[in-house]
Amino acid sequence: MRPFIVAGNWKMNKTLEEGKALVREVLARFDQPPYGLVVFAVPFPLLQAVGALLSERPGFSLAAQNCHHEEKGAYTGEVSVDMLASVGAKYVIIGHSERRQYFRESHEQLARKVNLALSRGLTPIFCCGEPLSVRERNNHVSYVARQLRASLFHLSEADMCRVVIAYEPVWAIGTGKTATADQAQEMHAALRTLLARRYSPNTAQLIPILYGGSCNAQNAPDLFQQPDVDGGLIGGASLKAEEFSAIIRAMRF
Ligand code: 13P
Repeated sequence: MRPFIVAGNWKMNKTLEEGKALVREVLARFDQPPYGLVVFAVPFPLLQAVGALLSERPGFSLAAQNCHHEEKGAYTGEVSVDMLASVGAKYVIIGHSERRQYFRESHEQLARKVNLALSRGLTPIFCCGEPLSVRERNNHVSYVARQLRASLFHLSEADMCRVVIAYEPVWAIGTGKTATADQAQEMHAALRTLLARRYSPNTAQLIPILYGGSCNAQNAPDLFQQPDVDGGLIGGASLKAEEFSAIIRAMRF
């Protein structure tokens, strides 16, 4: 069965000392490994230090928030998947709406990032999600289907089974406006149907689909009860140890 995952995406927040303190505070709240998997997606300069804190802790893992779509070379300021793997990252977020919007990342670039991550043994957390105008026209399912077709559906079935998908409606990110549990379930079920058609029903059942967008300790239990919601990608609420820990405890059994 697919794993349940709660991932904290810190975005561009936390210095080294602040980040280490936050991770220590979360870890201190768990004597036993969490029911599912907890992932910290931290800024590049913090990866190694946070990884060291997580290394002896089963159930906790390390992610980067982005990678470059080329293997290496003259790309000043960029970070390659090999570098991420070399400092212990196991996951990498690809195609976050902030990257698509502010950095104009294209479907094709995202497909190349997915390929590179998989080739180096990193698990892509591939983000998709529609802006408000698309939802208002009721075109949200076809919009997100296009994102998957353009950047994921070239993968072999074996490679697809190594991907985590995160559905993050753009209108819910950082706005305090969460998708309702029904809206999340509708989209997650639609995504699973797309996966079943492109690959197989069995593969569709194996791929975790996380929800992201103003997920917090209050709404997580409801969202996580939905049968096709396999966890959350948490922004703002992952920056506070108490709240993030409460979201981890809301994981569905
Ligand atoms: P918020 O939880 O702050 O809305 O952010 C969601 C997100 O973008 C996680 O990747």
